[in-house]
Amino acid sequence: MKTLEVSLAERSYPIYIGSGLLSQAALLRTHIKRKEVIIVTNETVAPLYLDKVNKLLDGYQCESVILPDGEEFKTLEVMNKIFDALLEKHFSRQVTLIALGGGVIGDMTGFAAACYQRGVPFIQIPTTLLSQVDSSVGGKTAVNHALGKNMIGAFYQPQCVIADTDTLNTLDDRQLASGIAEVIKYGLINDLTFFEWLENNIQLLKERDPHALSYAIERSCQNKANIVAQDETEQDIRALLNLGHTFGHAIETGMGYGNWLHGEAIATGMLMAADLSARMGWMPFDEVKRIKAIFESAELPVMGPKPMNSEQFLSLMSVDKKVQDGVIRLVLLKGIGEAVLTDAYDQQKLLDTLAEFQPTE
Ligand code: NAD
Ligand code: GLY
Repeated sequence: MKTLEVSLAERSYPIYIGSGLLSQAALLRTHIKRKEVIIVTNETVAPLYLDKVNKLLDGYQCESVILPDGEEFKTLEVMNKIFDALLEKHFSRQVTLIALGGGVIGDMTGFAAACYQRGVPFIQIPTTLLSQVDSSVGGKTAVNHALGKNMIGAFYQPQCVIADTDTLNTLDDRQLASGIAEVIKYGLINDLTFFEWLENNIQLLKERDPHALSYAIERSCQNKANIVAQDETEQDIRALLNLGHTFGHAIETGMGYGNWLHGEAIATGMLMAADLSARMGWMPFDEVKRIKAIFESAELPVMGPKPMNSEQFLSLMSVDKKVQDGVIRLVLLKGIGEAVLTDAYDQQKLLDTLAEFQPTE
């Protein structure tokens, strides 16, 4: 097992990464202060892992809430089912919430923990690659709104993150690829050496080689922990973690939540950001080709969705948490491994990028 730390003074917490962690009762129990627990999961993950986690909590007052599965259910209405269960079972302020599932469950459970009786502890047990390398770390919690993704939420840190790499064995290939997109993101933002490693090892990740996966998860979490430790509430450098997200969130909202997976949308979004950066003369087009090649080898999309035109993109992109004084700020690249947050791009070049990524046939 590898242990990393998210260093946030009194809100610091460990990230445990390894095989067999869902068989280690002490690891989980150490982070639960009182013996009141509610496990939040969904109808896909529950039959796979709920019994296993329940067994670790033998002797505790432990209940579970099983939510419907899908990005389209990441709503305030569905989140309310967590509050219903907590109140129906008379859970006190001493309760610990456990998020067992992917990023949807993690984001909703974290937000519910931030709200229940004005804040109770929660633990992340991420079971997708995407949630192990990104969403479980850093305390961003949220639900979607019909008009914008992750628009209702809070910064609220977990007590710990337990990433059992064995859970990835039951993940389907499309979901695995979606997680690989977030892994590649760290290389693009500020880790050229990691990007080069990924160029050489993408096949091993697709084949779920345990050593390659563990290394990629550790390096991704370390990258994210470093950034979060410097800027917990995204006043500055943390915004770089949103590379590809302004384009990608527009795709997710525009296409209807759940139709494009988050990692798929941000893969296309990152390529669009790279294309615009090259049009601005900030990076060579050869580097854009390298980025396209790595996404293609990961079997991630490299074109936008046909039904979305530039006007729709721009309208959806203007509902973004990085918008300041009505201006859309974008994370762009000054090269692979050097992301910047900027509004100094040319509007016509943005339109050219949007046109370039709209399929013609
Ligand atoms: P997800 O939670 O929808 O999980 C993907 C699918 O895999 C679901 O059908 C789920 O039931 C299933 N699943 C989960 N674990 C499984 C397992 N071990 N075996 C088989 N199936 C399993 O999606 P995701 O990709 O994990 O997360 C995407 C969400 O995360 C989005 O809502 C996105 O906005 C959010 N996100 C949040 C942050 C953050 O910082 N909070 C960062 C990135 C993404
Ligand atoms: N996934 C972006 C962030 O955590 O800031």
